[in-house]
Amino acid sequence: MIRLSINGKTVNVDVEPDTPLLWAIRENVGLTGTKYGCGIAQCGACTVHIDGVATRSCVSPVSEAVGKKITTIEGLAANGVQHKVQKAWVDNDVPQCGYCQSGMIMAVAALLKEKPKPTDADIDAAITNICRCGTFQQVREAIHMAAKSA
Ligand code: FES
Ligand code: FES
Repeated sequence: MIRLSINGKTVNVDVEPDTPLLWAIRENVGLTGTKYGCGIAQCGACTVHIDGVATRSCVSPVSEAVGKKITTIEGLAANGVQHKVQKAWVDNDVPQCGYCQSGMIMAVAALLKEKPKPTDADIDAAITNICRCGTFQQVREAIHMAAKSA
């Protein structure tokens, strides 16, 4: 058994230490908001926070997250209040199919923590998530809106 802290709760998962964190989150803990896209750290659909750092969980072994705080999309809202990024997403009608969006939102939330007022260049450098629906322009606008609402 491996003990993890996910969204403020301690959970025990019966997996090998080198199991990708994504599988433990989805299959063992049942939090399916974090998505599997490519499995090779390219698309960002699987992005979660480990101690506040945006991390592609498809290539992060569970052992890397032991003793750290894992946050998934399900844990981003605090006490039922939407995170400012989630609110900006709704206000800008960002999602299309939605598949990439939880990873996108987690990546943006981490960026705004580090850089509360990111420039377009900061956004291009930090948000490398892939959206097959092409929501990139709406994503950029929503990031600037969330930054202003800080
Ligand atoms: S599924 Fe992890 S980066 Fe694509
Ligand atoms: S909203 Fe469909 S892949 Fe991004």
